[in-house]
Amino acid sequence: MSAVTVQNLVKTYASGGRRATDDVSLEVADGEFLVLVGPSGCGKTTLLRMVAGLETPDSGRVSIGGRDVTDLPARERGLSMVFQSYAIFPHMRVRQNIGFGLTMRKVPRDEFDRRVARAAELLRLTDYLDRYPAQLSGGQRQRVAVARAIVVDAAVLLMDEPLSNLDALLRLQFRAELKRIVSQLGTTTLYVTHDQAEAMSLGDRVAVMRDGRVAQLGPPLSVYDRPSDRFVGGFLGSPPMNFLTARVRDGLLAIGDASLPAPDQLSTWDGRDVVVGVRAENIQVSAQARPGWLPARVEVVEPTGAALLLTVRLGDEQLKVQAPTTFQATPDQPLHLYAPQDSLRFYDPETSLALPLTSPSAASSPSPVTSPSP
Ligand SMILES: Nc1ncnc2c1ncn2[C@@H]1O[C@H](COP(=O)(O)OP(=O)(O)OP(=O)(O)O)[C@@H](O)[C@H]1O
Ligand SMILES: [Mg+2]
Repeated sequence: MSAVTVQNLVKTYASGGRRATDDVSLEVADGEFLVLVGPSGCGKTTLLRMVAGLETPDSGRVSIGGRDVTDLPARERGLSMVFQSYAIFPHMRVRQNIGFGLTMRKVPRDEFDRRVARAAELLRLTDYLDRYPAQLSGGQRQRVAVARAIVVDAAVLLMDEPLSNLDALLRLQFRAELKRIVSQLGTTTLYVTHDQAEAMSLGDRVAVMRDGRVAQLGPPLSVYDRPSDRFVGGFLGSPPMNFLTARVRDGLLAIGDASLPAPDQLSTWDGRDVVVGVRAENIQVSAQARPGWLPARVEVVEPTGAALLLTVRLGDEQLKVQAPTTFQATPDQPLHLYAPQDSLRFYDPETSLALPLTSPSAASSPSPVTSPSP
């Protein structure tokens, strides 16, 4: 049984016009961490608020633990929430803030102490229980908000951008802590972020949203590896997936002046243009010309510390390539590129959708584009 089921949820705000969510359906499995990710305004918060019972859908149903809760108020849904504005009470000590939900439920004193102590320990707040929020750092306040949400042992945890108030370093630290805590608790979690790296890092599965719809839903690495359309490939990953236009002709794939053998998947595309998608880290670079490698030119060199991010020109196209730090690259320098055939993804230039794989073997073929990999 899935913990949360959302069926055909449609929501249009009175002042909005466009649908904030447009027929969204998804299921969160028991104990799963599902991340809703997408650009600003794509409907993530609206969807979460409808699950929470804070927003009423125009149509569609929400079930929690197999029970239809669409018409139930928020407090009867058995959920716990952490929102972006973590809204902890300034006049209460950390202990009372964390235990707020327990106080509301009139939990006895000894059980209150035991559960608050456990939540505080999980969030490394044990030494701060007697402080007031004003005496805490931003990251500690955020942890109080999370402790307050987990202390009530709700069946489902909803979080809307809980890390967005933190600076970059704290975000990274707390992201890892959150992952540890949630996996330790095993609580079913629906988590909203617009940060693709956060989504990739936290989610058992990610739902990439666009314009009120789910564009793709799956385990992070499989969505990253096989984006179902150009939008998803461009949204997940830093840098975004490269997209180049190529012409299929006589079994070859022509990119600018160079050509590669076309995979079987493109056999019905003869004489037409396709869009080739390829990730920066799947492109190999060489200073020397090699058979089957594509001649290109360096435009920009950006050291990231762990690698060199190169912006290169290939015919009329510009693409991002990740090279080892040992690679000697200077602007204007010629270089040669190679990407294994199984790292190339193909998209319909009109619909932007991924082209269907012709055969299962085409999906897993490890054979290189032309010459063997060096
Ligand atoms: N209370 C409201 N009244 C009218 N329109 C709204 C309201 N709340 C959201 N919207 C609109 O609904 C759409 C979806 O908004 P939502 O807040 O769900 O987006 P989001 O994905 O959470 O974005 P962000 O990443 O910026 O938080 C947007 O076009 C937004 O302008
Ligand atoms: Mg939002």
